[in-house]
Amino acid sequence: LIIDLKNELNEHHEMESVEALRVKYLGKQGLLTQMMPLIKTLPNEEKPSFGKWINDAKVALEGLISDSKNKIMLEVLNQKLSNESIDVTLPGLNLKKGSLHPLSLVVEDLEDYFIGLGYKVAEGPELEHDHYNFEMMNLAKGHPAREMHDSFYVTENTLLRTHTSPIQARYMEQAGGLPIAIIAPGKTYRRDPDDRTHSHQFMQCEGLVIDKNISFAQLKSTLLNLARHLFGEEREIRLRPSYFPFTEPSVEVDVSWTVTEGETKWIEVLGAGMVHPNVLKMGGYDPLVYQGFAFGIGIERIAILKYKIDDIRQFYTNDLRFLGQFKGER
Ligand code: PHE
Repeated sequence: LIIDLKNELNEHHEMESVEALRVKYLGKQGLLTQMMPLIKTLPNEEKPSFGKWINDAKVALEGLISDSKNKIMLEVLNQKLSNESIDVTLPGLNLKKGSLHPLSLVVEDLEDYFIGLGYKVAEGPELEHDHYNFEMMNLAKGHPAREMHDSFYVTENTLLRTHTSPIQARYMEQAGGLPIAIIAPGKTYRRDPDDRTHSHQFMQCEGLVIDKNISFAQLKSTLLNLARHLFGEEREIRLRPSYFPFTEPSVEVDVSWTVTEGETKWIEVLGAGMVHPNVLKMGGYDPLVYQGFAFGIGIERIAILKYKIDDIRQFYTNDLRFLGQFKGER
């Protein structure tokens, strides 16, 4: 029996056929199993040695089967390992990495800078109520300055915000206490025809500080430090009187720009002013006790100057040749 099995095993090298052999020899109807009842027919003195023989044979057969199964398993495994071997000298895949959008770079830089000064970052909805976008900013219905903001109205009382200033009003309304010191970056919309320098969608970053004893001098130094942070320590700023309904006095802020050696221009970068008493009042602060300053920065403006971009539309076209240039900026 054992020799028979050995011979048969030599001819079979598959798991399934070895298993079939196990059934053939050791299964319920197997060759060895069939021999077991013979024990009853033997004289008593031969029974123990026959029983021992059956057991030994069983152990031997089982051993042969499991040896051969182990061998097959090892072969299969080796086969698999050699098929799946990896050539570690192959060049790696070149994964394309993205990078932050230049407008995000400017916003993140402003956030880092102002957070470092103790400001918080606030947000508001892009679809805004007329109430916050205009009324609370001291632009009552019929105010002529509303016409400067060509608006996308969605319903009679809601519009795509024309500036980030409504976030001032929203923040004053829910601020737990003083001082308030926030910046609020976000998208804004105006009905402008798009060209190299205009876009119907653009970004602003609002700034608002309210407390007792807030002065214009603090606004000026805040803006000077900001201009130097953004464009370099050698910058100067120039304030020109201007008009915004929500600040009084109001200024437009230019930053000095060296065109060529010795030739300096002034470039307008933002609007600012002392928070108008009406805005403070509507926001719940007594203008006789509290003062504030506010500013509004055009994000595209900053990015265009900082990265020397010649067409504002490049920010919105998702051209990877353009966007790829800002890798490693942060
Ligand atoms: N909201 C103004 C604009 O969109 C900018 C501004 C903000 C001016 C805050 C003064 C103070 O033009």
